[in-house]
Amino acid sequence: MNVCFVTSECVPFAKTGGLADVSGALPVALAELGCKVKVFLPLFDSIHVLKYGFVHATDLRDCHAVVGGRPVPFSVWYGKLPGSDVEVYLVDQPHYYHRGRLYTNDSDEDERFLLLQHAAFQVMQRYAWAPDVIHANDWQAALMPVFLRQTYQWDGLFRSTASFLSIHNIGYQGLFGPHSVSKAGLPADLFHRGILEHGGAFSFLKSGLLYADTIATVSETYAHEIQSPAHGAGLDGVLRLRGSDLFGIRNGIDTAVWNPSTDPHIAANFSAADLSGKAACKKDLVEAFGLPYDPDVPVFGIVSRFTGQKGFDLLQPILGPLMHQHRLQLVVLGSGDRSLEDFFEWAKHAFPERVGTYIGYNDALAHRIEAGSDLFLMPSHYEPCGLNQMYSLAYGTIPVVHRTGGLADTVHDWHEMGGHGNGFSFHDGTAHALYTTIQRALALWPNREAWRAMQLRGMTADFSWEGSAEKYLDLYWRSVHTVRGA
Ligand code: ADP
Ligand code: GLC
Repeated sequence: MNVCFVTSECVPFAKTGGLADVSGALPVALAELGCKVKVFLPLFDSIHVLKYGFVHATDLRDCHAVVGGRPVPFSVWYGKLPGSDVEVYLVDQPHYYHRGRLYTNDSDEDERFLLLQHAAFQVMQRYAWAPDVIHANDWQAALMPVFLRQTYQWDGLFRSTASFLSIHNIGYQGLFGPHSVSKAGLPADLFHRGILEHGGAFSFLKSGLLYADTIATVSETYAHEIQSPAHGAGLDGVLRLRGSDLFGIRNGIDTAVWNPSTDPHIAANFSAADLSGKAACKKDLVEAFGLPYDPDVPVFGIVSRFTGQKGFDLLQPILGPLMHQHRLQLVVLGSGDRSLEDFFEWAKHAFPERVGTYIGYNDALAHRIEAGSDLFLMPSHYEPCGLNQMYSLAYGTIPVVHRTGGLADTVHDWHEMGGHGNGFSFHDGTAHALYTTIQRALALWPNREAWRAMQLRGMTADFSWEGSAEKYLDLYWRSVHTVRGA
């Protein structure tokens, strides 16, 4: 099975969120199942090519892709995902990708990802490499299924190629003005017939959803949710139309990177068999945030992009009352919306011994928070899968989550009667529900035996990529059979 995997982020090279974790791990798990995977990614200015052993692909000279009606030159760097046979192709075009960040609001944002997609096709053509499946991720790659049928259909190389589109977050759709259709080199009538069009805009994601042979999203619950008006972000009708080709496969976690028994970023390693190192991690964590350490005070952690999706508006009205009524500490790592950054900065000053805030992106600190916290907060309004709650479970850190999307599929609410569950969850996405759920968690905290049992249930569960990669492979075969009519 030859797989062309197109993505805008990939660990360890470039990351803003969970898509990068998936892109760095799923191809490796697929390779272990015998797939030959080529990953295509822009060469952003933040990527250190030499550090990761990339070499300039000198056999790919004089490459051009037509974007916006003119030939755009690009070159390619070739390397591998660390410790694997997965090939990585970085598309080098400094004008587009040296912007100091992965995503922009610049007027050529469409062109930046049009180039990525055309470049992927061109590299495959130059090597005469026929993929069985093109696996496109999110709007940045969502035109791959469209280009396959509209732009490269003349090339026999792709005659048996199937297309597979993953939705990691329906909230981001890649909407551009109608003039972008010609930049993409696609026929205007596809726009006027409403195929590429959504709400008057050219929608990369909707277009891909209509053309892909198979569509997947990153948890079973989210696959159902996005077919409803409440969660479909305007695309629920399209998704219902494609319902029989839409599947949910839960993300895994990369146990080589997120594993408390080997993690090099944390103060002491620990495991389900010996949790003792977790206390050292907690002490290290609160002291790193300049807070006093008390083993009896529960520490809540947050690691997040600060966007409306993540539900921190639910925490705003209840943080003060919680702090006044309970002994607890909170450590926060994140960045994004200014109002949320300001809120967490305010909290640090309002409760100097209780709240620690780090505004920014810091991978090592994310590991220390997962390891050192007692509880982890994810009150997301919606969450396609979510990785941090699974990292928390693996690190013996009890997640407190809104029961939605992948959070609903991975965190099971603690039940006093049965003594089961691996965390705390609430149904209504309200501040009151979050408040009472945190109170329930705090009520259990002194019961060390029940707490330990809950930690162990999380730590011993299998969240590895293996099982999910097998499901992807099955769906790849399904897509191939669809195309070849077998
Ligand atoms: P999303 O992709 O919506 O942001 P996920 O839970 O799937 O949510 O993945 C988020 C990933 O990004 C996790 O690996 C998390 O540790 C990481 N992350 C988010 N914000 C930060 C940050 N400020 N610093 C370091 N890592 C972060
Ligand atoms: C998106 C989602 C997140 C998911 C990640 C990887 O960013 O917000 O829930 O885990 O993609 O699939």
